[in-house]
Formats: sequence, C-alpha cells, structure tokens
Amino acid sequence: MGTGPHSRIPLNNGTAIPVLGLGTWPIANGEPTARAVAQALRLGYRHIDTAKMYGNEEGVGDGVRASGVPRSEVWITTKLATGDQPHARRAFDESLARLRLEYVDLYLVHWPAPGLVTRTWSAMEALCGDGRCRAIGVSNHSIDQLAEILRMAKIRPAVNQIKFSPFGFDQELADYCRREGIAVEAYSPLTKGRNLRNRTLGEVARRYGKSPAQILIRWALQKQTIALPKSEQAGHMEENAAVFDFEIAADDMARLDALGT
Ligand SMILES: NC(=O)c1ccc[n+]([C@@H]2O[C@H](COP(=O)([O-])OP(=O)(O)OC[C@H]3O[C@@H](n4cnc5c(N)ncnc54)[C@H](OP(=O)(O)O)[C@@H]3O)[C@@H](O)[C@H]2O)c1
Repeated sequence: MGTGPHSRIPLNNGTAIPVLGLGTWPIANGEPTARAVAQALRLGYRHIDTAKMYGNEEGVGDGVRASGVPRSEVWITTKLATGDQPHARRAFDESLARLRLEYVDLYLVHWPAPGLVTRTWSAMEALCGDGRCRAIGVSNHSIDQLAEILRMAKIRPAVNQIKFSPFGFDQELADYCRREGIAVEAYSPLTKGRNLRNRTLGEVARRYGKSPAQILIRWALQKQTIALPKSEQAGHMEENAAVFDFEIAADDMARLDALGT
C-alpha cells in the first residue's frame, strides 16, 4: 500500500491517484479552505477533494498555490453539480476558472440524475482529450447505474466515490467496482466524527496504540479504497496521515466490518 500519504495506486486510464486525500466539505471558501489545503500539502498530503457544490473551489486553488508544492505533484478532484448536468462543459470550464488551474486530475458526476445517467456520461467523455481533465468518474452511483454506463462507455469511469466506513458500506458495490476496474473512493470515512467513541472501535484502537480516526482510515485503505477524511485542524490532518506504519489484523478487520450490522 505504500509508506505515506503520497502513496499512489493506478487507475484504469493509466494515471495513479494518491490513496489519501483531504476532504474539503464543509470548509468555508476563501481563507479557511486555502489555509487547510496549504497546511495539508505541507504535511505531505498530495490529494484534495472538492466540488462545485462545496462552494470552495477558489480556496482550494489558492491553497495549492500558497503551499509551494508543485501543481504536478498534487491530485485535484472536483465534481459536476446535479443541476449542471445538461451543460457539463460550461460547468467544467467554470470550475477550472474558480480553481484558477489549467487542469483537474479527476472530474466526477457528483450524484446520478434519474434519466440522465448515460447522457451525462457522454458529456463527461467529451471533456477528455485536451488535457484539461485527466480522468473522469462518478460518485454515489449504484451497480445498476454503473452497468448502464459501462454498456455505452467509450471511456470507463475511473472511480466511484461512495460513503464508506465500518458503520456503513456496500461491499457488493465495492466488489462490483473492483471487478470492473473502477477504483472506490471512501467519503465520510470518519462517519463525520459521529462514531469515534464507539466501544469496539476504541478497543481495536487501543490494541494498535492508534486513535479511533486512524483505525477508520487504515480500515478504508485495507479495504482497497482511497480514503478522503476531512479536517481543518493541522493536528487532526497529521494524525489522519499517520496510518502507513501499521496493519490491522484480519480478525480485527472482521470486528470492524461487523460494526454496521
Ligand atoms: N461525493 C459525495 O457525495 C460526498 C459526500 C460527503 C463527503 N464527501 C467528501 O468526503 C469528505 C469527508 O467526508 P465528511 O466531511 O462527510 O466526513 P469525515 O471525513 O468522515 O469526518 C469529518 C469530521 O471528522 C472530524 N475529524 C477529522 N479528523 C479527526 C480526528 N483525527 N479526530 C477527531 N475528529 C476528526 C472533522 O473535524 P475537524 O475538521 O475539526 O478535524 C470533521 O468534523 C468531504 O469533506 C468531501 O470531500 C463527498
């Protein structure tokens, strides 16, 4: 899995994505987002997850520039908002303009829109080719919606970003994605902080001398997902990135797997 937050795994289009990303929802646009992004990059993160719907793309671009880390070393994902699906190209151009970047590494359909799934995917495919959009994918898509896309796709989705933690995950969907060569990104990997005091999680954390948050992120990585914990606190960011020096044993993985049932 690699040795740090910069570790990458290959995607189906020949690119490679850092396995740990900073989630940026719901950090306020402007200074708060710029500060969090620059901080994360200085701590070794190389992957930032944003969306038009988060309203903080300007802050993300500013944070990347302020960090001093070369653009080429940073993976930036943004997303097509649902209401923009009928005019994806314009929405993409506007996102790039807000980010003030020449390209994004990954552009995702944020949510499937009933009746528009394949039409929107064609529009996403049309964004590839001029170097401004290096990979395309989806978020919150079901097996049926992915199958619909795969039946007509000229370019397969590189990722499906879904809610994924021991307290709630769809193993069948993750297995389907793996079989189809679609990487899974885990959002809300810390359950928005809601389950960090869970007793079983605490017991596992104590066994490894790690925090509950670190166990949740490590669990997501060992499930072969790309983990996207959000934090705007340097201490938490550092803690969340210190997950590459231990391994959760199979019996503890099974204990964690059972938390959602
Ligand atoms: N595609 C989608 O539809 C979708 C939906 C939801 C989320 N996402 C993406 O996934 C990212 C993460 O999901 P999320 O924001 O819902 O929740 P999350 O990452 O599961 O949890 C974030 C919460 O945990 C706290 N936290 C972070 N590190 C901690 C630590 N080490 N110890 C204790 N508390 C800690 C954060 O507070 P502090 O900031 O104070 O550290 C924040 O309150 C989002 O930011 C977004 O980029 C995507």
